[in-house]
Amino acid sequence: MSRDAVKANGAIVIASGAPGLGRRSLLAAAAKEGGVNLLEVDAKKLSKNQAEFSRQLRMIARECKLLAKAPLIRNIDALVDDKDTSKIDLIGTELVAELDTNVFVTCGVNRPQLRWDRPVIVIEVKPPSSAQRAKLWTMLLDASEGDGEYLATTYPLAPAMMHAAAAAAKARAGARNLTPEDVELGIRAVLDDKLGHFAKRVDVTQTWNDLVIEREQAQSITELIARIRQRRTVYETWGFAAKVGKGLGVSALFSGPPGTGKTMVAALIAKELHLELYQVDMGKLVSKYIGETEKQLGELFDAAEAGHAILLFDEADSLFGKRTEVKSSNDRYANLETNYLLQRLETFTGICLLTSNHESNIDPAFQRRLSLHLRFQVPDEDEREKLWRAMLPDAAPVAPDLDFTGLARRFEMSGGYIRNAALRAAFLAADEGTSITEAHLEHAARLEYEGLGKIVAPRVPQWPSRSSSSL
Ligand SMILES: Nc1ncnc2c1ncn2[C@@H]1O[C@H](COP(=O)(O)OP(=O)(O)O)[C@@H](O)[C@H]1O
Ligand SMILES: [Mg+2]
Repeated sequence: MSRDAVKANGAIVIASGAPGLGRRSLLAAAAKEGGVNLLEVDAKKLSKNQAEFSRQLRMIARECKLLAKAPLIRNIDALVDDKDTSKIDLIGTELVAELDTNVFVTCGVNRPQLRWDRPVIVIEVKPPSSAQRAKLWTMLLDASEGDGEYLATTYPLAPAMMHAAAAAAKARAGARNLTPEDVELGIRAVLDDKLGHFAKRVDVTQTWNDLVIEREQAQSITELIARIRQRRTVYETWGFAAKVGKGLGVSALFSGPPGTGKTMVAALIAKELHLELYQVDMGKLVSKYIGETEKQLGELFDAAEAGHAILLFDEADSLFGKRTEVKSSNDRYANLETNYLLQRLETFTGICLLTSNHESNIDPAFQRRLSLHLRFQVPDEDEREKLWRAMLPDAAPVAPDLDFTGLARRFEMSGGYIRNAALRAAFLAADEGTSITEAHLEHAARLEYEGLGKIVAPRVPQWPSRSSSSL
């Protein structure tokens, strides 16, 4: 950033870019270099009430004049309310027009129009390159160059997140030497702090070996992992972003009946990529206060971007569902949220996974923007047999010669229900003080099956049973 930017008389200096990239620090450094003292204002914290908002602006203007300071208005895009920019215009008349200093502004990637009748200098703050990230990790953690490079590739966080994570990691290590685990847990602590209000971290104890899936689906999963892992190489280094007009973001929809492993696969993918997975709590998110949901969503996406976490919108229908014909005011707001989400996904550089039991519920506009769509199927008989076998842990006492084939044939149900049945059978057996028998599994499977509203096919003996045999 050059000195000229600050000296240009009365210019508006805007730093725009994703949060956490150091927009504010950049402006503060520029101002300092130019000998300008700043008065910092966070637009998010200004009053929602129009009259009060104007009063606050006049106070800020007076303060700036009295103390010979220039205003730094952070997050100015927070003032845009569904394309209404009247609050930004008010800043022009109540604050900017009163001052002859520079005015400093930060905003997100989508820069709102400032009609303030002043020259504008825009600084687009880009994410650091991997080399810069490696340097920053090395500096923050007093790590070796090699470790810095490793951390930069494993955790490509935004600088602000790196600072916070490094501080948390150091606090955890105390006097002893830092370990990779300290860094991992440091990042987790920062993410929990940022995302914890509206999302919960999903831990997974299962492995790919536990997953029973057909070949084609396994290939789609491999493709999705490659898309996430190689997106910087392909889009940035190889220049595909400009060619195909797409950003770094990856979004995928997992659709299919309940219990087919959608959530499980999301968690396994996150684990494979050393990323944290945060399951968004739709209930907490969809606020009854109009406009609040958008703000909360905005914060979620920002934090996921900066922290390189995967967002999971499990059973996403309520948020990504079809836009409705406007009948009530509620519909109108629901549509606003959908429009906001569509817009935000366009610029999102992170990873988000949606699951849905019915793909047709998801608004086609979202479907078009997805990087991939994976369809999960109810397992066939062979797969069900594998699932039954896979559900019984090695340490569990199991009767010999269980007829998994028969269970698979008679109970046409997905992995989730097979898991429930196996667990139910285990409890029945444990309580009786015996090993898990065919009868336990049969009984539990029947309960699950009937819970699904299905009728069990009669047991067809494959060979004459001993009691009825004539031998
Ligand atoms: N294809 C599968 N392979 C192995 N286990 C499965 C599979 N599908 C479901 N399960 C079991 O059922 C549980 C619940 O499945 P889940 O991922 O929640 O299904 P969904 O999200 O599709 O409703 C999983 O944690 C796992 O134990
Ligand atoms: Mg699920």
